[in-house]
Amino acid sequence: MLRWRKSEPPPLDLCEPCPLDLFTGPLWQQARGVDTTTKAGTEQRRAAGYVHGYSTGEARRLGEQADTLAALLHAGTRYPAGSRVLEAGCGVGAQTVHLVAASPGAQFVALDVSADSLARARSRVAAQAPGARVEWVHGDLFRLPFPDDSFDHVFVCFVLEHLADPVRALREVRRVLRPAGTMTVIEGDHGSAFFHPDSAHARAAIGHQVRLQAAAGGDALLGRRLHPLLTRAGYADVSVAPRTVYADPSRPDLVAGFTRGTFIPMIESAGDQAVAAGLTTPADWARGIADLRRTAGQDGTFHYTFFKAVAMRPDRP
Ligand SMILES: C[S@@+](CC[C@H](N)C(=O)[O-])C[C@H]1O[C@@H](n2cnc3c(N)ncnc32)[C@H](O)[C@@H]1O
Repeated sequence: MLRWRKSEPPPLDLCEPCPLDLFTGPLWQQARGVDTTTKAGTEQRRAAGYVHGYSTGEARRLGEQADTLAALLHAGTRYPAGSRVLEAGCGVGAQTVHLVAASPGAQFVALDVSADSLARARSRVAAQAPGARVEWVHGDLFRLPFPDDSFDHVFVCFVLEHLADPVRALREVRRVLRPAGTMTVIEGDHGSAFFHPDSAHARAAIGHQVRLQAAAGGDALLGRRLHPLLTRAGYADVSVAPRTVYADPSRPDLVAGFTRGTFIPMIESAGDQAVAAGLTTPADWARGIADLRRTAGQDGTFHYTFFKAVAMRPDRP
C-alpha cells in the first residue's frame, strides 16, 4: 500500500505496487466503448487509456523525443535492402522517419492501435520522407493481422512500457518473425533519472507519473526488465545495451530537446491525473515541476538511461 502524508513528498521506492484503479476515473472515460469482457478488449481499453494520451502536445513531444535521440537510439539499426520490417506501435511516426532514413531499401509496415496516430504518422512520413516505402496498418499488437513468419525484422520503441502483459505481446511478435529474424526493442526507465539540483519534490513528481502508469497497466521502469522479458518470450541471443542521455549547459541541444522538450513535458502532463488521484496537491506538484525545470538551467544537469535490446527468433520456438 502507498502510505504518506500529502504535506510531504512520497517515499522514493518507485517500484511499490500501485493500488489505484484509474479505470474508474478520467482515463477510463477516454477508453469507454471498448469491450472489456474479452482479453483483447481489456488490452484495447488499456491502450485507449494509456497514460500519455493522444493530444497534439503529446504528438509534438514524441517528435521532439525521436529527433533529439535519433543518433543515440537508432545507432546500429540498419535493415538490408529488400527486407520486410514491422514497426509495431509506430504512434505518430516519430521513429518511422528515422527508420526509413537509415534503411531506404527496406520495406516497412507500421502498425498502431490508434487510427488517429496512424493518420498523423502517414502525414509526417509523407512530409519528411516522401517516397518512403511504408504500409500503414491499424491493428493490435496482441493480435497482429499477419501470418506466421511474415517479417525479417521487428522494431518496437516505447510501447512495451504501456502494456499489461509485455511477454504476451513479445510472443505475438515472435510468431510473425521468420526464424533467425531479429527483434529490436527500445524502452526507458524512469528510475534512471537523476539530476542537479536534486529535489525531493521533483523526484516525487516522477514517482507519481510512475504510479499512474502502473495504475493504467504499464511499467515506466520496464527498461531494466528487457532481458528477462525477451528471454521469457522465447527469444535467443538477447543482447541489451544502456543508451544514456546526459544533458548539461555544454549540450544545449540535449537540454532543449530532451530535458525541456521531452522529459519534463511528459511528467508535467500527468499533473491533473496525479492531483485527481490524490497522489499530490497542486502546490507540491507545481514545486516538483519548477524544480525539474531548474535542472535545465545554467547550473543544472540531467541524466536518463534508455535500454536497447536486440534478440533473435530461434529456429524452433
Ligand atoms: C509512447 S507511444 C510510442 C510511439 C512510437 N513508437 C515512438 O517512439 O514515438 C506508444 C504507442 O503504442 C501504441 N500502442 C499501445 N498499445 C498498443 C497495442 N496493443 N497495439 C498497437 N499499438 C499500441 C499507442 O497507441 C502509441 O501510439
